[in-house]
Amino acid sequence: MFLERSLRRVVVAVMRELSGPIPVNIGGGRSYNIHLVPLARLDSLLREVRLQRGPCVVVTDANVAGRWLPQLAEALDGWDPSVIVLPAGEQTKSHASVRSVYDKVLAQGIDRQTPVIAFGGGVIGDLAGFAAATLLRGLPLVHVPTSLIAQVDSAIGGKTGINHAAGKNLIGSFYQPRLVCTDTSILDTLPSLEWASGLAEVVKHALIADTQLLAYLERSWHKVQSREPATVRTMVGWAAAVKAAIVAEDEKEQGRRAILNFGHTFGHAIERVAGYGAYTHGEAVALGMRAALSLSARLHKHFDMDRAMSLVCQIPVRYPLSSQPVSVDALMDAMRYDKKASRGALRLVALRAVGQAYVTDQVTRDALLAAWAAAYH
Ligand code: GLY
Repeated sequence: MFLERSLRRVVVAVMRELSGPIPVNIGGGRSYNIHLVPLARLDSLLREVRLQRGPCVVVTDANVAGRWLPQLAEALDGWDPSVIVLPAGEQTKSHASVRSVYDKVLAQGIDRQTPVIAFGGGVIGDLAGFAAATLLRGLPLVHVPTSLIAQVDSAIGGKTGINHAAGKNLIGSFYQPRLVCTDTSILDTLPSLEWASGLAEVVKHALIADTQLLAYLERSWHKVQSREPATVRTMVGWAAAVKAAIVAEDEKEQGRRAILNFGHTFGHAIERVAGYGAYTHGEAVALGMRAALSLSARLHKHFDMDRAMSLVCQIPVRYPLSSQPVSVDALMDAMRYDKKASRGALRLVALRAVGQAYVTDQVTRDALLAAWAAAYH
């Protein structure tokens, strides 16, 4: 109920005045804004949150730096940035990368007012966020997300961390940024695979919590696909507002925030079985959502699966599961890793109706097998 009310308020505000910031109210008087503005506004946004011009640390990757670093440098006119460029890709979310960030930052001399600017996609955001959370027990963190997934999901809500040989995201903390500066025009140069990966999270946000966003995506899909600028801006702002409202209810994933994992338990199993890197995260989630929708239809006989499935099936996926040498047994087996993470019970996100997600641990093996069968189409 509360989610519905707060969502409606936030989303109405976003739609009325897209130039206004989207608040992330995480409770205890802590709040920050997501600004949908050109990158050139960064300096004034930093000063609005009382970060004074001086040294700052920029963490980015080689792809983003190659294309957008000059624009960022211009936006930081008056600052003294030291730029750390890391290799692009998931392997950068490692102990070794964090250590190299620590070494470089500590060698140059910083104080507790030195902001860390995460300029990149989800990997850079998680890694730079973790470094900011731990250096001097916490430096001001600023997200400047450059991928669709980061703009609508990972830069919002304070999850930071790195991977470990034992699994992904096993080391990290919740650490909220001072602000998020989102320039949707940066998405113009995003490779199509990464664009599709982000679309999976946008569709997920709509399916779990916002039927009006779903309707917007349905009627604007061709403009979404062609990245028409005004449509992209509306879509990003809307999806970011959905994420902000969910995080505001449950900052540390004690309950409600878990609905953001819709399609993810199935998706993680696909990534694990196909081998990390075979699918993008978004492709695995898109396939995982097919399974999760089928499960929802089995649990709720009035669930409008056709509507939801037709949008999910628009998300480009290079290799359907049916073209892969991946067995359902292996996928069922792989789901046990998520089961271990939640004390033995396999917790899945299902939809009662489009826009109404909940978490359940009451799923039979037969229901899971049927859900996997749906993902194979
Ligand atoms: N991406 C899921 C979450 O932030 O909770």
